[in-house]
Amino acid sequence: MRITFCCTDTASEPWLNGLRAALPGAEVSLWEPGAAAADYAVVWAPPQQFFDEQLHLRAMFNIGAGVDALLKMRLPPGTQVIRLDDAGMSVQMAEYVCHTVIRHFREFEGYETDMVKGKWSFRKPRSRMDYPVGVLGLGVLGERVARAVAQFDFPVNGWSRTPKAVPGVQCFAGAEQFDAFLQASRVLVCLLPLTPETRDIMNHAHLSRLRPGGYVINVARGAHLVDEDLLALLDDGHLEGATLDVFRVEPLPKDHPFWNHPKITLTPHTSARTLRSESIAQIAGKIAAMQRGALVGGRVDPLRGY
Ligand code: NAP
Ligand code: GLV
Repeated sequence: MRITFCCTDTASEPWLNGLRAALPGAEVSLWEPGAAAADYAVVWAPPQQFFDEQLHLRAMFNIGAGVDALLKMRLPPGTQVIRLDDAGMSVQMAEYVCHTVIRHFREFEGYETDMVKGKWSFRKPRSRMDYPVGVLGLGVLGERVARAVAQFDFPVNGWSRTPKAVPGVQCFAGAEQFDAFLQASRVLVCLLPLTPETRDIMNHAHLSRLRPGGYVINVARGAHLVDEDLLALLDDGHLEGATLDVFRVEPLPKDHPFWNHPKITLTPHTSARTLRSESIAQIAGKIAAMQRGALVGGRVDPLRGY
C-alpha cells in the first residue's frame, strides 16, 4: 500500500515518520511531481498538479476539518475526501468560545484596562439570561461548543441543516427556523462549513435580527461574514463587539479596518489547531479500517459541500 503526503506549509518529516510508525506495512513518501500513483493521500492545500497526477486514490485525507478550499480544486473523479473528525479540535474550540463568551459577559477586558491604569472599580453584575448564545452549526465542533457554553448556565440555541436534539440546547433547523434562532440569540458563534449556502450568512439583514447589544464570534471561515456589514452594525451600536479568528484573506491584510477597531478582538486562525499525533492516529486507523473493507466516518459529500 502506498501513501503520498502533500501538505503545503507543513513540516513533512514528523508527519511522514508518524505515519510510517502507525502503518508499518505501508510505503509512505512525500509527493513530488511525477511520483508513482498512491492508494491514499494525506493533504492540505495541494497544487492542482497533484490531483491531475494522482488518479487512483482510494481516499484523500484532509488534515483539517474544513474542506472548502479542497472542494474548489478539480479532484480526480470518484476519490473519497475524508476530513478530520475532531482529532483534538473540539476541546480547543470549546476553550476558545467559552473564554470569549465569558470574557465579554464578565467584562474582563474592561477590568484589565482599569487595573493597568491603577483604577479599582466594580461593574454591575450582568444576568446570563440576557446573553443567550446561538451556535450556527451543530456538527462535531458546534455541538461540543454548545454543550460547553451551556455548562456555564448561559441559555444556548443551536442551528443546523437537519433537526438535532442536544441536552441543554434549544435546537433550530433549516431555513424556516433561522429567523427564530437569530431572534432568540444575542451572542452568535459561527461553526458552519463554508458552502454556497452558508457564504455571507452573517450579513446585515441576519445580524440585525440578533438581540440588541449582540456579539459575533467567527471561528469558521472568513467568507461567512460580510466585513462591512459587521463594521456598520458595530458603529451604529446594534452589536457590542466581535471576536474573529478567521478572515476572507489570511493573513489579514495590514490595511484592513478590523486591525484597529476598538470593538474587535482578533486571533490568527488559531482557535482549533490540527494536532499531529491525534490526526495521524485517526488517519492511520481509518486507512486500516478501509483496507479491511469497513466504512469510516468523516466522509465528505461533495454535493453538500461538507
Ligand atoms: P461538521 O461536523 O461537518 O458540522 C457542520 C454543521 O453545520 C452541521 O451541524 C451541519 O448540519 C451544519 N450545516 C451545514 N450546512 C448548513 C446549512 N446550510 N444550514 C444549516 N446548518 C448547516 O463540521 P465541524 O467539524 O463541526 O467544523 C465546522 C467548520 O469549522 C469547518 O468546516 C471549518 O470551516 C471550521 N473550522 C475552523 C477551525 C479554526 O481553527 N478556526 C478549525 C476547525 C474547523 P447537519 O448536522 O444537519 O448536517
Ligand atoms: C481549520 O481551519 C480546519 O478547517 O481544520
